[in-house]
Amino acid sequence: MTVCSFVGRRAACLVRPATLWHETIPDMQPCETIPDVTVHQEKSPFIQACRRGPVPYTPVWYMRQAGRSLPEYRKVREGVSMLDSCTRPDLITEITLQPLRRYDVDAAILYSDIVVPLRAVGIDVDIKAGIGPVVATPIRTAADLARLRPLSPDDVPYVTEAVQMLVAELDHRPLIGFAGGPFTLASYLVEGGPSKNHDKTKALMYGDPEFWHALLGRLADITISFLQIQVAAGASAIQLFDSWVGAVAPDDYRHAILPHTRRIFSALAVTGVPRIHFGVGTGELLGLMGEAGADVVGVDWRIPLDEAVRRVEPGKALQGNLDPAILLAPWDVVEERAKDVLGRGRTAEGHVFNLGHGVLPETDPGVLARLADLVHAESAHPDA
Ligand code: CP3
Repeated sequence: MTVCSFVGRRAACLVRPATLWHETIPDMQPCETIPDVTVHQEKSPFIQACRRGPVPYTPVWYMRQAGRSLPEYRKVREGVSMLDSCTRPDLITEITLQPLRRYDVDAAILYSDIVVPLRAVGIDVDIKAGIGPVVATPIRTAADLARLRPLSPDDVPYVTEAVQMLVAELDHRPLIGFAGGPFTLASYLVEGGPSKNHDKTKALMYGDPEFWHALLGRLADITISFLQIQVAAGASAIQLFDSWVGAVAPDDYRHAILPHTRRIFSALAVTGVPRIHFGVGTGELLGLMGEAGADVVGVDWRIPLDEAVRRVEPGKALQGNLDPAILLAPWDVVEERAKDVLGRGRTAEGHVFNLGHGVLPETDPGVLARLADLVHAESAHPDA
């Protein structure tokens, strides 16, 4: 089956040979035409910075910009569980747009979660408030792997519908789609919930490579499909959150994780959308994370951006990296540190301003609004 989506003037035809689609999206419907709304998004500072092109100012968005720091989020979530809220296009759309009404950010990020595609294929995962994802029956043996079947668009119609609604609504602002990276998803599945040291996961990675690669292969398939579905519906960029992969040493990353991550990014290459790769505590992995094939490497706050430039191969943009905890300090500290990030970011071929990890729930939204304005004003080049 040939599948195509014409996305604005980019006219990116998301065509892959039927056999390849079959690997990832077995039941994809043919020829879906997306409205011509991504033309402006292509020229947006965010997309331009991801492509290392000229920008009028440094674009900014915040990981976890939607969520508990916003009273309007807490209000619409009343009485609705986290994962149920991720299956309702009306709520997904509303929550995705909430931060854009407050902050002059240069991109929206879809309201969803990295475990949404896992639940969609039948994994008994829930998100417990204040804890995170909890998996009732962890995946630890080869026999458990059959539970990780491929994801098809019919498993997540609410994602397609929400992305289409959002793209129509967002006009010039790009929508970022996302998915969890292989190590991070594996950790939740193997540990059964959040983990400090990921011991059981790493024990399998070191001790049972055959199982490990089979697990990460299935997770990569699900992730590829989840990202393709979001791009086919109109997402203008994607971010792979391998949040906890910093727990792994570089040599192990190279053998145990990189091949799967590389496959994810290369499957997305045909879409033409910028691909961002982020993890926490990944200072020692930044070079390899770039090699995995992303266009943009996300950096947490532990490594200054000019040092990250030296660690990542040429030809990549960087994203980051203000410590989210700095936003809890007085404004003059925030201002000084944000300017420092911008200054170091100028050494990169492209820079998207962001925090080094997600917005903390106790963050004052007023500070985030002021910060977005500061980033724009400080970085403005009138001639660009
Ligand atoms: O605005 C955005 O950034 C988009 C929304 C988003 C959510 N989860 C919504 C959410 C994104 C990008 C994610 C990704 C995600 N989910 C990651 C990668 C990003 C990161 O932080 O490293 C991870 C590791 C998860 C797993 C997860 N889901 C955790 C650790 C938690 C927090 C648990 C808690 O209560 O402290 C969640 C829940 C979650 N995902 C919330 C939101 C808004 C909070 C749920 C609530 O309102 O109770």
